[in-house]
Amino acid sequence: MIGRLLMAVVLWLAGPAAAATVGVLDSPGRVLQVTLAIDNDGRATWAVARKGVAVVAPSRLGFLFVDGPKFERNLVAGRPVFARADATWEQPWGERRFVRDDHAEMRVRLTEKGSLGAGVKARRIDVVFKAFDDGVGFRYEFPDAGAVQIADELTEFNFAAPATAWWIPAGEWNRYEYLYNRTPLEAIGRAHTPVTLRTDAGLHIAVHEAALVDYAAMWLQHVDGRNFKAVLSPSWRAAKVLRQGPFASPWRALVIAPTAAALVESNLFLNLNEPNKLGDVSWVKPFKYAGVWWEMHLDTKTWASGDRHGATDANVRRHIDFAARNGFRGVLVEGWNLGWDGDWFGRGEDFSFTRSYPDFDLKGLADYAGDKGVRLVGHHETSGNAAHYEDALAAAFDLYAANGVDAVKTGYVADAGQAKVRDADGSLHYTWHDSQPMAAHHLKVVTEAAKRRIMVNAHEPIKDTGLRRTYPNWVSREGARGMEYNAWGQPRNPPGHDVDLVFTRMLAGPMDYTPGIVSLAGKGQALQSTVARQLALYVVLYSPVQMVPDLPENYAANPVALGFIRAVPVDWAESRMVAGEIGAHVSMARKDRGSDAWYVGSITDATARTVAVPLGFLDAGRRYRAEIIQDGTGFDWRTAPRAADKAGTIVSETREVTAADTMDLRLNAGGGAVVRLVPIS
Ligand code: NOJ
Ligand code: CA
Repeated sequence: MIGRLLMAVVLWLAGPAAAATVGVLDSPGRVLQVTLAIDNDGRATWAVARKGVAVVAPSRLGFLFVDGPKFERNLVAGRPVFARADATWEQPWGERRFVRDDHAEMRVRLTEKGSLGAGVKARRIDVVFKAFDDGVGFRYEFPDAGAVQIADELTEFNFAAPATAWWIPAGEWNRYEYLYNRTPLEAIGRAHTPVTLRTDAGLHIAVHEAALVDYAAMWLQHVDGRNFKAVLSPSWRAAKVLRQGPFASPWRALVIAPTAAALVESNLFLNLNEPNKLGDVSWVKPFKYAGVWWEMHLDTKTWASGDRHGATDANVRRHIDFAARNGFRGVLVEGWNLGWDGDWFGRGEDFSFTRSYPDFDLKGLADYAGDKGVRLVGHHETSGNAAHYEDALAAAFDLYAANGVDAVKTGYVADAGQAKVRDADGSLHYTWHDSQPMAAHHLKVVTEAAKRRIMVNAHEPIKDTGLRRTYPNWVSREGARGMEYNAWGQPRNPPGHDVDLVFTRMLAGPMDYTPGIVSLAGKGQALQSTVARQLALYVVLYSPVQMVPDLPENYAANPVALGFIRAVPVDWAESRMVAGEIGAHVSMARKDRGSDAWYVGSITDATARTVAVPLGFLDAGRRYRAEIIQDGTGFDWRTAPRAADKAGTIVSETREVTAADTMDLRLNAGGGAVVRLVPIS
């Protein structure tokens, strides 16, 4: 009684907005601290501090529903339940082999005080927090059976400190294919995640979500000051999310790191995903692939039938021969199937996923490739018509499986908001690429593919939220401005874009950027790049499937570049960011999974610089041969000569180094460098 009285006095003294702490969760190393509180109005808030300094000020939790009042006020919190885990798990493929998942957990049940009237069961939602030393995640769990119709989330992110933000707009026509804005935090309008922040005090924060399964994607919207809220990707229905309980939301997650390197190296989003659900995935194999692709973007060949059709037997054989000669496992063929002759961008329903053009013989080419140790990589452009694609899915994958095609690139090129899905009643609807039905669609494709041991690489996809851990055949995706913009984009990708990607889009997972245009030639426009930088992108921008997209004759003219691309691995034992800053430059070091060699890739923005790369990641006491390829002198991205190594565009050099050394890599403006480090036995 006295205790309660005291509590009441304390609350009264603290004023109307006072909050009572419900639970405090410390990360394992006591670096981060999450606090869940309930204020006088029964509103739940979450907050995060790092080493005693506020990172996220108290921020609201809750939901708007279509069929009932919002769940936000009049909440009573149950007793927090704590748990602790520290386990290391192995990635079947990845940027590193072993991942440590070391976190503390706090689970709190929020129950509404009978606002729905007598006899109505009080609504309740559990909030589960996981605190790691480099970030926090939380999700909502709906414990009860029955339909849940979510109109929107009321989750807030009330950032405590001034910061600079790197972000792209959400809800705009070009999906995720924007150049990154660099603005004060308060100038973010409505952004796709990951959104990356650097506070004025130098803390690095990435806001994203993990395990986006059967739910609408989260957009981050400015409210006022430094306060933001989650907005769910829209639906044609009033409910943005329709589910049957019990179920859980995706994780709302923040990497909170003292340095740019710690931000880039965090495994938070993977750790918040479920373990592999596919069982034996030894058939999922990282690979490099050539293909019938860049020539269409240059407009010298066409997807459509006719004189310039790219997917002809003769042209595909040419690419197969190139791949076989150079040890590339895959050959992508786009434009092989009926449907490209009309307005394919707007008419996904015209595509057949089983019938080829008469000048393309799937079986004959698959056999021709197989004899040379190469496999075709399939292509399914849907133009965003997911409904039509789902109708054809089983037959489409069966056909590829029967021909030994074990990887398929999918595509959803409709403008944002123009994807097409079928509702439960059979009606067709336009929707967003990251709406709940599209999240479900992508997993349907991935699981149908897995049944036939096929890997999936989605273009114009839904954003990556770490689901490769659960579905390891979802090997890569696009979901940002890739190389294609250098063929025809207005504007092209400026040099800073690739650097920005590392600190934003790449935090979410692998990207099929398609590096390696060593000719530096787009369609009537030059790349804002150097040849050495094209090589560096294979190391800097991680993907277990990497394209070798330039024309075979352009690689033939660039033997040094081709030699590096042949050698560079696509599967890694370890990855480190060894130099760099957001918005400036970045150097990644990665250790080959199949040998003791390390590779370093460095790129810069439009500024020339010499980057010091400390080699402390090498084994101590061992000597290594460093094979360096870097920009020649006297040119930059504005004047980059096209004749590659012949004109001194790239220069190579070999020297001996140890872990005690620091290497200085010269990067021209818009340039790059690569180093292969091989132990000398
Ligand atoms: C867009 C994809 O990103 C690109 O790689 C592909 O060539 C075209 N769609 C056609 O499918
Ligand atoms: Ca694209």
